[in-house]
Amino acid sequence: MDPMETPSNDRADERAVRQEWRHSMDRTADLKAAGDPTDPTVPAVAAEPPAPTTAADVPAAPAAAPEAPAAATSSSGHPAHVADPRDLVLAIRGLRVSFSGNEILHGVDIDAPRGGVVALVGPSGCGKTTLLRSVNRLTELAPTASITGEVQLDGSNIYDRGTDLNLLRRRVGMVFQQPNPFPMTIFDNVAFAMREQAKTRPSRSSLMPAVQDVLQRAGLWDEVKDNLDRNALSLSGGQQQRLCIARTLAANPEVILMDEPCSALDPRSTARIEELIVQLAGSLTIVIVTHNLAQAKRIGDYAAYLLNGDVIEQGLAQQVFEDPTEQSTRDFVSGMFG
Ligand SMILES: Nc1ncnc2c1ncn2[C@@H]1O[C@H](COP(=O)(O)OP(=O)(O)OP(=O)(O)O)[C@@H](O)[C@H]1O
Ligand SMILES: [Mg+2]
Repeated sequence: MDPMETPSNDRADERAVRQEWRHSMDRTADLKAAGDPTDPTVPAVAAEPPAPTTAADVPAAPAAAPEAPAAATSSSGHPAHVADPRDLVLAIRGLRVSFSGNEILHGVDIDAPRGGVVALVGPSGCGKTTLLRSVNRLTELAPTASITGEVQLDGSNIYDRGTDLNLLRRRVGMVFQQPNPFPMTIFDNVAFAMREQAKTRPSRSSLMPAVQDVLQRAGLWDEVKDNLDRNALSLSGGQQQRLCIARTLAANPEVILMDEPCSALDPRSTARIEELIVQLAGSLTIVIVTHNLAQAKRIGDYAAYLLNGDVIEQGLAQQVFEDPTEQSTRDFVSGMFG
């Protein structure tokens, strides 16, 4: 595997995000309040099994998961999640990313209609993670990165000078391949963004309704409601990933980026997360990278196929997966390569 591929990048991203959180925590003394001296920059899930790195390693969709709903399509031919497919919450235009002068993305255009699930697929190394990380400006944390083009979020280019990166990363949340809860209680993980955004430190009781709401939306409440003070790291991998989604939801994002969020999970947990993604869509927009084509078909309203840093084809997921226009998409979705 190329040493620059996902796992190390994930860790770097997680560290960056945590460092930003940590910065806020230092301001608000939340870390002390959480009573946990553990350094949050240390990868929190060292005990997790290594993530699968190839499509073949990713657990196939469970046969017993009929509850993972297929994306519904309206009579107009557009997914039911999406009120107006011309209403783009994200419009990526001419995005070029290079590392040390080596161009990885060659002028990518991607549309994400508001409320939709956009599945990004393509062979390993084609630039999916780089693309995702460019949507909340994590790519530029690599000192060798250079980025041109635009990422319009609600019509404003996030690369404009003066963009508030903390606000951007709240509006565009990210869920990583490996669940990365903070080393603190379940409650404190979810309350974190709420505390950070409050002017004065809110009481636990005042936060409880919102924490409950977010945990319910993340499909975790029933499993944790009796012990919200349990350390988040003691949860199972699938529960940790749902907690990370809850923590992201707590910041009230418009878009959630998910980079292979199920690749470290078993089939049952994968089905739970898929169900959750479909439920969340509509109220927010999800861009998900997955190597699991069956998953992309099940949950994607829209899909984009990338190859060697170019978007080969994008559109309604059903069209891209079942009736692709390009021969190379056809080869990829039929499993001939990738
Ligand atoms: N920080 C970096 N510095 C140098 N090269 C990088 C960096 N990040 C990514 N790359 C390179 O960019 C290319 C695309 O990597 P990326 O992780 O985006 O691919 P991917 O499509 O997500 O692959 P996978 O499916 O294996 O996760 C790879 O050749 C990778 O080595
Ligand atoms: Mg990747």
